[in-house]
Amino acid sequence: MTDQKHNLSFDDWDEVNFPRPEENDFDRVVERAVSRRGFLCSVLAFGSGAAVMGTGLLKGTTALAEAHAMKNRFPFTPIDIATDHEVHVPEGYTSKVLVSWGDPLFSDAEGYDVNAGGGAVEGSDRVFGENTDGMELFSFEGHEIIAVNSEYVNRDENLPAEQEGTPANADDVLKLQNLQGVTVMEVAPGDDGYSVVVDSPFNRRIHHNTPMTIAGPAAGHDLMKTEADPTGTESLGTMNNCGSGRTPWGTYLTCEENFNGYFGSTDADAPRPDGYDRYGIGADGWGYDYHKHDARFDYSKNPNEPHRVGWIVEIDPTDPESTPVKHTGLGRFKHENAACAVAPDGRVVVYMGDDERGEYMYKFVSNGTWAPGASTEGLLDDGTLYAAKFNDDGTGEWLALTPESTGMASLAEVLIFARMGASAVGATTMDRPEWIAVNPHAIEAYCCLTNNKNRGVKANAGGDETPVNGPNPRETNNFGQIVRWRPSEDDHAADTFEWDLYVMAGNPEVYPNNEYGGSDNVTPGNMFNSPDGMAFDSNGLLWIQTDGDYSNEGEFEGHGNNQMLVGDPVTGEIARFLTGPNGSEVTGVCWSADRRTMFVGIQHPGGSWPTGEGLPRSSVIQVTRDDGALIG
Ligand code: FEO
Ligand code: CA
Ligand code: CA
Repeated sequence: MTDQKHNLSFDDWDEVNFPRPEENDFDRVVERAVSRRGFLCSVLAFGSGAAVMGTGLLKGTTALAEAHAMKNRFPFTPIDIATDHEVHVPEGYTSKVLVSWGDPLFSDAEGYDVNAGGGAVEGSDRVFGENTDGMELFSFEGHEIIAVNSEYVNRDENLPAEQEGTPANADDVLKLQNLQGVTVMEVAPGDDGYSVVVDSPFNRRIHHNTPMTIAGPAAGHDLMKTEADPTGTESLGTMNNCGSGRTPWGTYLTCEENFNGYFGSTDADAPRPDGYDRYGIGADGWGYDYHKHDARFDYSKNPNEPHRVGWIVEIDPTDPESTPVKHTGLGRFKHENAACAVAPDGRVVVYMGDDERGEYMYKFVSNGTWAPGASTEGLLDDGTLYAAKFNDDGTGEWLALTPESTGMASLAEVLIFARMGASAVGATTMDRPEWIAVNPHAIEAYCCLTNNKNRGVKANAGGDETPVNGPNPRETNNFGQIVRWRPSEDDHAADTFEWDLYVMAGNPEVYPNNEYGGSDNVTPGNMFNSPDGMAFDSNGLLWIQTDGDYSNEGEFEGHGNNQMLVGDPVTGEIARFLTGPNGSEVTGVCWSADRRTMFVGIQHPGGSWPTGEGLPRSSVIQVTRDDGALIG
């Protein structure tokens, strides 16, 4: 995600406001570059020698060549890059818009005018939200219900043009708050594809003011209490909802990412409590200006309010009256998504990434066990949170975050300040962990490490050095990679794992002779940068979505617009399936109940996509095969 007005990534915004420690000295960077060569050798040996871990895809392996001899599992001809303002899919496939921001979910919102600076505040909580992101489809009693995130807003488009993206009053702020959060909507097939069922009893908007329950070990802690909620157990709203997840029992998980940007202070000298620096909370915020018109977001008045976001929220999409639950057991950080697995003994495992340069990858393991139909009470709160440590030899371990291991005062504080806990135990700094996906056909999981220009250059926000390391092997990493791991004893709850890199993105034309050219499964025909969204389909193919540089210039020449590719975990092959309109990020994917329609999110498009006139509109599209066959 990129702030359109200022053309800064949100990580960059934090860095401008919270400068990181000084750069490493030159000698240390060189030393690490040399040791990187040693790492590559170790991965080569690991990958090619350990068939159990897959194909070993870095350059020089023979496994990939052998894998290429297998039959290609992709039922389409890969497409070329694009730089235009259209969506492209392979021959034999068709895409069309399902829903765009501002489309009514209820008939009383018909006529909502998205072109008049995002419409009036009235009705803004009755329409499909802005900037679509993670989503999941649920089948329930014959209905198909999509829960889908609206991550942030495009203030320039959501407010009258003359305001240049700056809220002028409380109504402007309320409108922006209404356009974000989560949309729950029923969809149904018809003669011309799927459409939203307007006025379905399942339709619901959950936004920045929706009442939530706070559950788990941090609920009720003093750091969670505010004047409006002296119990520390009831909060308002979920925000910056990025990636998604689904529980084994059929509820939706929405993940609060760059929550810090909504907070600010009307008193620039107001004290900034512990943790504000690490989480990037400052007096100016990121331009939403909520704090100027809504005191809840003014930390000079409500210093604990920021502690009440940065969590994962569970929503029952089948019950529009249900109260969403913030699960503090899963830790507080800039959550990307939540990938669930069930261990052989029934314990629930949730893999999670913290998307900021040099932050960590986490997993939660429940104490209780789950079985179909059994109670889910406490399963996402009563358990242990771990941070990942990757060793350069292809092994890794999960480090438990507890008061004892971190030296922190209580479990509640460990969870509220999970980043500091992970630093304390010496977890591995990562190149911005984005989506994690669990392979339904093998006991393994994948994480997109989208990019990290600071790798080997700067410490993270907590001052932890970020030298090149095993799964993050390139300094100044502008391309990103996907790491995968296989837990010991085929048990996602295990404390240890083995890992390799599924792909290192790159540009083999610009960098034919070094690691910036990418791994062997990256070619001039499929190259891309910044893997971000990711999901497995029912066939065990891995769909990869990008959120990166779409300039198609310099070291990104030949990458084109952001795109969606599909990877085969067995052979390592990767093929380009879809390109998004210029300016957009492709994010969020799910399938209809019959798997004949794939839904894909197009966030913050440029130009006037999709209609060709007026303001661009973030949309969910539907992709089908012209022969009506399965698409995932
Ligand atoms: Fe909202 Fe890290 O993407
Ligand atoms: Ca993302
Ligand atoms: Ca991203």
